[in-house]
Parts: sequence; structure tokens; C-alpha cells
Amino acid sequence: MSSDALYTVEIDAGEVGGGALEGPAAVLRQGGLVAFPTETVYGVGADATDPEAVRRIFEAKERPTGHPLIVHVDGVGAARELVVDWPQVARRLAEAFWPGPLTMILPKSSVVPDVVTGGLETVGVRLPDHEVAKALVSEAGCPVAAPSANPHEAISPTRASHVERGLGERIDCLVDAGATPLGLESTVLDLSVSPPTILRPGMVPRRDIADALDGDVRLDDGTEVAADDAPRPSPGLSENHYAPSGELLLVDREELAAARPLDNRVGAVVRGEEPELGEGTHLVLPAGPSGFARHLYDALHELDASGCRRILVERPPEEESWRPVWNRLRRAASGRDPA
Ligand code: TXA
Ligand code: MG
Repeated sequence: MSSDALYTVEIDAGEVGGGALEGPAAVLRQGGLVAFPTETVYGVGADATDPEAVRRIFEAKERPTGHPLIVHVDGVGAARELVVDWPQVARRLAEAFWPGPLTMILPKSSVVPDVVTGGLETVGVRLPDHEVAKALVSEAGCPVAAPSANPHEAISPTRASHVERGLGERIDCLVDAGATPLGLESTVLDLSVSPPTILRPGMVPRRDIADALDGDVRLDDGTEVAADDAPRPSPGLSENHYAPSGELLLVDREELAAARPLDNRVGAVVRGEEPELGEGTHLVLPAGPSGFARHLYDALHELDASGCRRILVERPPEEESWRPVWNRLRRAASGRDPA
């Protein structure tokens, strides 16, 4: 290991005891940046109460300062300190889905510096369902502001190696606990409006949220038609995120077949069955939405790293259970998908 190697702590997600996270937690307390796994993707975190530390996240990612960050907590009590009020809807949703991939947006308390929320009066809070993330936040003793640990507009990382490739020496510490179990970012739900509105679909589906609330839930994820004059509610959600550096095209099986043989500058991500594509690189992902979601970013990272200039992704079914995947694919395809 060279002397300038990134400070990396490898840890088994099942064995967080034993002081392995003391070092990373100390880095957080000292105002440093620590990348760590959650059940969705890796985040790059800083002490949410330290404006200078949080500013460094924006620098490391080259993220526009108006794009709000999610604050990670280790329990409901810690979440309540970050917001003005903990309404009945939040209580119900926390009971139903926390720890888990649901980010709730509520009016922020004075504990949260403006830099965290990009100047907004609301804050996104989340209790991740990952032992390493929870233990790190507990050990640090502060709420942890953490966006996905990728450079702005690049693909979110689901492995430590993705973080290292994307952010490398821009961070102070990397906690490596292997691949993240869900592979796609949390559902972002705005509770500061009525009815509650999903700004980013994720693995907690709209139907389950509506059931838990016994009420209406809107969807405004930027891929559905909104009134022309409606302000974009969530800075950062309306752009082409999640993109590999090559071109990403959504295609169906027939188009895939027509594209063969793939040359080594073209890669493909297909669903379920092995296609007949000849020589080129293609990765076969599980046929169902959660299996596909779990491996999608990993596949895109792999094809990207192998130098593919163009990535063909097999179009998934137009079904509600595929909504989170569609949301990411449409953005990654930079609006090229006609659907
Ligand atoms: O699964 C996840 O949510 C991962 C892990 C690390 O927790 N985090 C993540 O963070 O994806 P980030 O920053 O890459 O995406 C959070 C999204 C942003 O696009 C942001 O616009 C939205 O949530 N968001 C955060 N706070 C908000 C707020 N107060 N109002 C509206 N949108 C907000
Ligand atoms: Mg992100």
C-alpha cells in the first residue's frame, strides 16, 4: 500500500462491533468526509451540524450548492431534533418503513445549517437499514449529511471500488462493507406539502406509503407531466443524473439482436435471458425489478470502466413495480428514450 492510499476500513456488515468504526467516526467528528455503505447506495458523509465539513461534500462531488443533502440518523429521536415538528404522518411512516429506504422531507429546525439544505427551509431525513451506516452515525455522535458518493451527475456507487474510482482522494476515509443490498437510492417523500408527494421513486413503493397513511400520495418525479409553471420542488431531481460517461440507449430485444455483433466499444445490459449477441460485452441481470435494480448500477459501472462508449440497456416492462428503475434509466439516457 502506498503512503498516499485512501484510508480504507474493511468491515463485515454483520460484525460492526469491536471498534472498527472508531477511526471513521473520528474522521467525521474532525470535519472530514467518510464514504460508507447504506442499504441503497454508498453515501459520502460529513457531520451535518458542521457547515464547513458539509461544504466539503459539495466541493468533492462538484455538486451545485443549491442541491439539498439527506441527513442520516441512527434513530427516530435524532430525526426529530432535525425538524420543527414530527407530525402523525412521519410517525406512521417511520413505524412502517424505518430503518429503510425512505427519506422524509419536513420543515427543518435550527440544528440544520442552511448549507445542508441548499437554502431550503425543509430537510430530508433518513434512518438507513444498514448496520454499518447506523453504527457509524451512532459512533460519530452526530447526524450525518450524505448524498450518494459519486461525482455530480455520475452513476451512484454500489461498491467501495466505485467510490474510489469516482471520488478517490477527494474523501478522507472509505468504509468498505461490500456491495449494497438494494442498489438503488431511497424513495424521497415530501411531507411538507399536502398530499405527501414522492419526488424520487425508490424501493418503498407509492402504494405501500398510501396504505400506511391510509390516504392519498402524489408522484412528482420529473418523468410525469407537470404544469408548465409549477416550480420544480426538488433541486437536483430534474436533471440528467445517474449517467455513465458513455452514451446510454434504451432498446428492446429485437433492436439488441440487430446490434450484434457488439464491438468492444459497445456494451449491453439485458434482462433475464442470455441474448445472442456474439463477441461484445454484455451483462445479464435478473428478470425481476428488485434483482435488476440491485445490479443495474454495478453493471453500468463495469461497462463504463471497461471503456464502453455506448451502453445498450434492454427496456424493462412498463409496470408500476419498475418505476424506480425507469426513473433512473430515463435520466441516464439523457432524454433519448422516447417512452
Ligand atoms: O438512498 C439514498 O437516498 C442515498 C443514500 C446515501 O442515503 N442518498 C442519496 O442522496 O441518494 P442524493 O443527495 O444523491 O439524493 C438525494 C435527493 C436529491 O436529489 C435532493 O434533491 C433530494 O433528495 N432532497 C434532499 N433534501 C431535499 C429537500 N429538503 N427538499 C427536496 N428534495 C430534497
Ligand atoms: Mg445522488
